[in-house]
Amino acid sequence: MSPDFAADLVHRIPKTGVVVAIDGPAGTGKSSATKRLAERLGFTHVDTGALYRSIGWWLKQRGEESNEARAAELARVLKIEFKRIPYLNPSNRVFIEGEDRSEAIRTPEVSLIASQISAIPEVRSALLELQRRMGASGGAILEGRDIGTVIFPDADVKFFLTASVEERAKRRLSELEALGKDVPSFEEVRRQIETRDSADRNRKVAPLKQAEDSILIDTSELTLDEVVDMMAQKVIAVSQREGTQ
Ligand code: DC
Repeated sequence: MSPDFAADLVHRIPKTGVVVAIDGPAGTGKSSATKRLAERLGFTHVDTGALYRSIGWWLKQRGEESNEARAAELARVLKIEFKRIPYLNPSNRVFIEGEDRSEAIRTPEVSLIASQISAIPEVRSALLELQRRMGASGGAILEGRDIGTVIFPDADVKFFLTASVEERAKRRLSELEALGKDVPSFEEVRRQIETRDSADRNRKVAPLKQAEDSILIDTSELTLDEVVDMMAQKVIAVSQREGTQ
């Protein structure tokens, strides 16, 4: 499909609900908060980081981590699907070419490859229309790094989550423990987070940054429920104003 045709198609999809953009660095509780918020409001949850992770995992399996042309090609052709399977935890599953790879794409190695891949302009442009289509009909929450700045600059509600590096490293460590992986030290996890932050913030294309019109939430001292309550109140207020709820 040509990019022009795809862009036109996005504008033709009728919008039936608000679009919510949630951005922020790793470990701020973005994924957990988005998942809960989507469940509470009955919205679709689009985990855009999983797209970059899926490409990274696929390349790693084949020893092609540094092949930029291949990464760009995969961004166009790799079949990545999100499916909700309520009896599994997490219930938001990621299928690559028909196989459930939800856990495999969450390892620290894949995180680093995903971050490197996400700096390739051809990869980003190939994933842009796909992400827009995923949210175009509204009633959707997209989480990532550039949702409020690039993918949906006109999103109805935008949040930017932040938290101290220590708190984020603590959370990442518990996640890895829960996955039953060999767990690195706290210092190692902290270093990985800082490396990834710096790469995500300093890349030339669509760097991680707060959209001016987004609501900043520092989650360091907040519980997940508190974060979700704050976001839900705002989304419901905007939905009511727009007559979509
Ligand atoms: O959210 P995450 O940790 O699953 O994201 C993995 C990597 O993908 C992250 O290092 C940055 C990149 N990413 C991005 O550049 N843009 C997005 N919208 C989402 C993720």
